[in-house]
Amino acid sequence: MKPRVLVVHKILPEALDYLDRHADVEIGTDAELLPKSDLIRRLADKDGLLPLLVDIIDRDVIDSAPHLKIIANCAVGYNNIDVPYTRSRGILVTNTPGVLTEATAELTWALILAAARRIPQADRFIRDGSFKGWAIDLFLGKGLAGKRLGLIGMGRIGRAVALRASAFEMDVVYTDPHPLSADEETASGASHRNLEDLLQSSDVVSLHVSLNPETRRLLSREKIGLMKRGAILINTSRGETVDEAALVDALKTGHLGAAGLDVYEREPEINPGLFALDNVVLLPHIGSATYETRLNMSLTAARNLVQGLRGERPDNLVEP
Ligand code: GLV
Repeated sequence: MKPRVLVVHKILPEALDYLDRHADVEIGTDAELLPKSDLIRRLADKDGLLPLLVDIIDRDVIDSAPHLKIIANCAVGYNNIDVPYTRSRGILVTNTPGVLTEATAELTWALILAAARRIPQADRFIRDGSFKGWAIDLFLGKGLAGKRLGLIGMGRIGRAVALRASAFEMDVVYTDPHPLSADEETASGASHRNLEDLLQSSDVVSLHVSLNPETRRLLSREKIGLMKRGAILINTSRGETVDEAALVDALKTGHLGAAGLDVYEREPEINPGLFALDNVVLLPHIGSATYETRLNMSLTAARNLVQGLRGERPDNLVEP
């Protein structure tokens, strides 16, 4: 008999075809969210689970799945899963690292450029019929060449963002609990700073950390207060790494010049204070949203799931 798996939301068809060959696949829902009570009910007879980052896999969910062997998250982040509890129950957890590095770095640059050059505001200006002709002071933005980019977190994505900075002639600094080796620093063109130095000296600050107890609200009100006047904040990691109310205040007072956000504290809710501001670019968590990347994420999660069901060590095991 084939193992039974719950794929909470449809992933790309190539990956579903692959899973169909190896398992009895049940799709959880066509809606954005499967209610927790349904998730719990449908997991009772399942051997494998493939969630997205919106599905909260907590103790209640895990306790409702006596046969579960593996949870193959279709995301690089896994803060939606209680990993220590899952592992204590002997259930494997996997993620999809590597395949979304370039897409997320590219979207980070899209946000840097959009925020610095006020692209969404200028687009709205055209669409509402306000463009009456070229003017010397129309939509003045901030130049990037010669400015400093500060990266918080220098894993795969942070490094990919750093590499692309040389094309914009920016000086790059980073902070990370595990600094790069001298060779790696040379290759990525970035030098290490502590968080305070980085915040005080960077014109653009971009977050590339995973969400965990150390990074939750890493950019507190106090830390945002350290940033340079007029600086730009970019977040393509997780919304909970920033005190969003403090960010709104800093954008309102002009302490920060602009922000580019792909993630929010209480997704999909957006802080009404952000809506009210013109100097913030808002995207709906699409960092990895290229066709190639979402296909690779779907295939990677599906392969991890099948490996775990077969009793093999999955390629992308999340270690406790
Ligand atoms: C996206 O946010 C991911 O963690 O894959």
